[in-house]
Amino acid sequence: MQRRIISENITQYIIGTPFDTGAVILHSNAPADDCDRIPHFGEELTETNNLRLTKSLSEDEKLYGLGEMLGGLNKRGRKYRCYNNDDPNHTPEKQNLYGSHPFMIFDGEETFGLFIDYPGEINIDAGFTDRSVCTIELTCSINNEVNVDIYLISGKTKSDIVHNFLTLIGSPFMPPKWAFGYQQSRWSYPTAEAVKDICAKFKELKIPCDAIYLDLDYMDDYKVFTTSQERFGDFAAFAQELLKDGFHLVPIIDPGVKVEEGYSVYEEAAKNNYFCKTFDYENKKSSGDDFVAAVWPGRTAMPDFLNPKVRQWWADLYKQFCEAGVNAFWNDMNEPALFFTKRGLEDLYQCYDDVRSRTNPGLDFFDLKDKATGLSNNREDYKRFCHNCDGLTQCHDDVHNLFGFNMVKASADGLKRHSHGQRYFLLSRSSYIGQHRYGAVWTGDNQSWWEHIIVHLRMIQSMNMCGFFFVGPDIPGFGCDADAELLIRWLQAGVFTPFLRNHAALFTRNQEPWAFDDRITDIARNVIRFRYAILPYLYAEYHNCAENLKPLIEPLSFVFKDHRCESIEDQFMFGHSAMAAPIHSQNARGRSVLVPDCKWLAWRVTDYSSRDMQVFEPGTYFFDCSLDQFLLFIKEDSLFVTAAPGQNAADAPTELTVIGLVTHSAEFTYYDDDGTTYNFEQGKYGTLRMIVTAEGSDYSVTCKYNAHAGFKNTIRRINFEIYNGRGELVRKSIKMSGDTPEAPVRR
Ligand code: GLC
Repeated sequence: MQRRIISENITQYIIGTPFDTGAVILHSNAPADDCDRIPHFGEELTETNNLRLTKSLSEDEKLYGLGEMLGGLNKRGRKYRCYNNDDPNHTPEKQNLYGSHPFMIFDGEETFGLFIDYPGEINIDAGFTDRSVCTIELTCSINNEVNVDIYLISGKTKSDIVHNFLTLIGSPFMPPKWAFGYQQSRWSYPTAEAVKDICAKFKELKIPCDAIYLDLDYMDDYKVFTTSQERFGDFAAFAQELLKDGFHLVPIIDPGVKVEEGYSVYEEAAKNNYFCKTFDYENKKSSGDDFVAAVWPGRTAMPDFLNPKVRQWWADLYKQFCEAGVNAFWNDMNEPALFFTKRGLEDLYQCYDDVRSRTNPGLDFFDLKDKATGLSNNREDYKRFCHNCDGLTQCHDDVHNLFGFNMVKASADGLKRHSHGQRYFLLSRSSYIGQHRYGAVWTGDNQSWWEHIIVHLRMIQSMNMCGFFFVGPDIPGFGCDADAELLIRWLQAGVFTPFLRNHAALFTRNQEPWAFDDRITDIARNVIRFRYAILPYLYAEYHNCAENLKPLIEPLSFVFKDHRCESIEDQFMFGHSAMAAPIHSQNARGRSVLVPDCKWLAWRVTDYSSRDMQVFEPGTYFFDCSLDQFLLFIKEDSLFVTAAPGQNAADAPTELTVIGLVTHSAEFTYYDDDGTTYNFEQGKYGTLRMIVTAEGSDYSVTCKYNAHAGFKNTIRRINFEIYNGRGELVRKSIKMSGDTPEAPVRR
């Protein structure tokens, strides 16, 4: 084993010749020296040559991280698996979902971070088998030796450790501003007419919305990069029409390519050897034939995204869409999901024959049942195809967690290349560490269950630790039927996740904001409008957090000293100024909230213009909230920026309203840019530094506007609503004369 110092806080331990996953962007030329152990851990090789790391856990040690996993925010007491998996049944015992994010924080007698940069399977037993032991086992499928990079990350606090980890893996991508708006989806809106009807309804009901998703049915026979002439006619004209109306189309693109003579995408890839090949697992060599599995279109081949040439080819397939003005996509099924293979089917038929031949079948019926349900995403199939990595044959199973990441890399590359300087939007189901630099992630096929709201409240905190700031669940659940109350409570929670999309499975009840009754429509409208009202804060904080490498959404225990925060998993920081405490139980008409460490301004929101505000000292309180109400807390000596909501996220505000609780002094840097291009990377953006300082019973308010060449400021007035520690309100206002703030006046 070798050791290399990457930075003051990061040390790399290198075992063998690790596969370059692309997760890390911070490298060091420092020489590596030999070392015999990784601090904190014992290591051993198992009988099957897997690498096992072992760490003892102190009584109160807590574990955080692991990104997209079920279970608590504190990961202790369960088992987890990093092996990307298309599993639509997110029941509590499940160990793995669609993404693998092997970053953890151990918070015990010592607090440190661990990142295992390994693309194959990792099994983590976080004190499940033995309460006082955490074991981490890296599976090595083929070469009989584990090659891996392991990073130890130090920092004064958990928050610092996350920050230092983000210096290693980089900041998240900057989506276009419209992507922070509300997005509507359903499997499927199957025709152009159906999509237009949905758009018209948003306009008619004055519910803001920025994007409409196209699920499988926009394609011709599930063939990727085609559109159905019959259902969508002139696709480019249709996309343009919607865009003019303020709606961005987001079509789905799956990785699997239908095996069909005459289909150009298939033929080109087949001719150029761009598909993954079948792998003779027993003899450890490629057979040279394309690997074929069944997915939506039936027989499907999988592009070898680990091959740079294939990524180039795939990137250019987006060109035709970009030319039509469509540069937002979701990449689904990229674990990759496999319904079944010929091998699996034959195995099942064999089992069927065996059971049929029994005179008195009993328990063996379950073999048959398990074989049938185990057909999909079967590990044996993942062992039976391979990649061509720079000329080397790589068994898929050993690099499984990188398939989606590399599909996203290819897609992002194509979208960037063909979007003529416009920012793209890309959403993925599968993910690996580092992918946040290229796109967003949604948390897959959840259900319309109350239990899944809290699952996601925890998950988005853990995902943020791993760099995925632009993340969110299907609201109000993908599978099963949602009820009206679930829609409202989940939307209210969704106000605080950057990715806010309503999506539902085929055959489920409609769950658009108007799908229930007029009162529910009114409440949903108010919630969505509230989200648009806080976009100035969200967009600025997203940018600030990305730039400063601080998560947008953080657990309370990472920020505050109050030891009770460690037990609170359903409240979280939303940027630096605000805390969310969503209601997630059916029929609840309020909830308890821990108000940590300092004073907070509690805003019980009914709509954007409502001002039900009260100041609270640290403590635990019960807040009543009828169905149309939800909670937002503004921290002492912090500012929160809002504006009257538009119909689209791109509607530039002319007035800002800054709400704060100020006992000493508060500061906020409002950031804005054109929201559509990468000009901000060349410094074309505006910042407005606001400082509010208490002076007796009054406040001094200063604003410093810093417009960089080429950015057009739209703000004409900034209204301040500042509360003191007793909840008394002072209003001030600053007019902008061009780009220069005038002296504040009391209102
Ligand atoms: C997968 C996706 C889901 C999508 C469906 C059909 O289940 O997770 O979001 O609607 O496939 O494309």
